Amino acid sequence: MFPLQLLALTFISSLSLQDEEDEGERKEVMKEEVTESRYDLIFRRGDLLEVPRTLFTHFGIYLGGGRVAHFIPDILPLLSSDRYRIKQMVTNFRLLLGVIAKCGSVRVDHVDDFAFGAKILVNSTDKVCSCAALQGDAVAQRAERLQGDIAYSLLWWNCEHFVMFCRYGTAVSFQSFQFCKTVRKLLLSSGVAMVMVVLSPCLLLSGAAVSWSMVLLAALPPFLIWMAS
Ligand SMILES: *[C@@H]1O[C@H](CO)[C@@H](O)[C@H](O)[C@H]1NC(C)=O
Repeated sequence: MFPLQLLALTFISSLSLQDEEDEGERKEVMKEEVTESRYDLIFRRGDLLEVPRTLFTHFGIYLGGGRVAHFIPDILPLLSSDRYRIKQMVTNFRLLLGVIAKCGSVRVDHVDDFAFGAKILVNSTDKVCSCAALQGDAVAQRAERLQGDIAYSLLWWNCEHFVMFCRYGTAVSFQSFQFCKTVRKLLLSSGVAMVMVVLSPCLLLSGAAVSWSMVLLAALPPFLIWMAS
């Protein structure tokens, strides 16, 4: 828990260093977009929205006016400063590269774009989380403050950490926790880690026929470590 909170703190302090003018521009954009929406009848400002996907669950905070703040991996902020292009819907390709490059952004999208046709669960983490939810408006304000491009980590700072921080004040991810538990069980039971560590340099040094598969095998552990950090 402690490293995560520390992470959340560094994350916030780095955000406050952002340009003032950037801030002004952002507020301007926000003002334009806020209109009444039929979703205001279903959701309340600060509600935690959850969309189950095939492999994982995506999370967001409802801001009102049919808008959702959510944290999504995205490579584009690294490559371009074109706000308009970044604002377009994130493709799977952008998302995947974002996960690998560990870059993402907290963005505001319409509920329909956020859910992408899937069923939306509301506040269901309230039952699982040991902390009480903050007041709705405070939750939404946190989410709004965190808008922008930030570092993404599949395990340590993902979409779930973002909403948990906004709604309960602690950045935890049950998905990451489950994932780590599964991986640890796997590693401990089969000794896979040991084999990888011993095998990959041997393969590379054996010289004779360094095939692509060997190179890949050797590159795997550092890649996994990068992804896990
Ligand atoms: C979500 O939880 C809040 C309390 O934190 C509650 O006021 C709100 O009505 C809930 N939303 C829905 C749609 O149940």
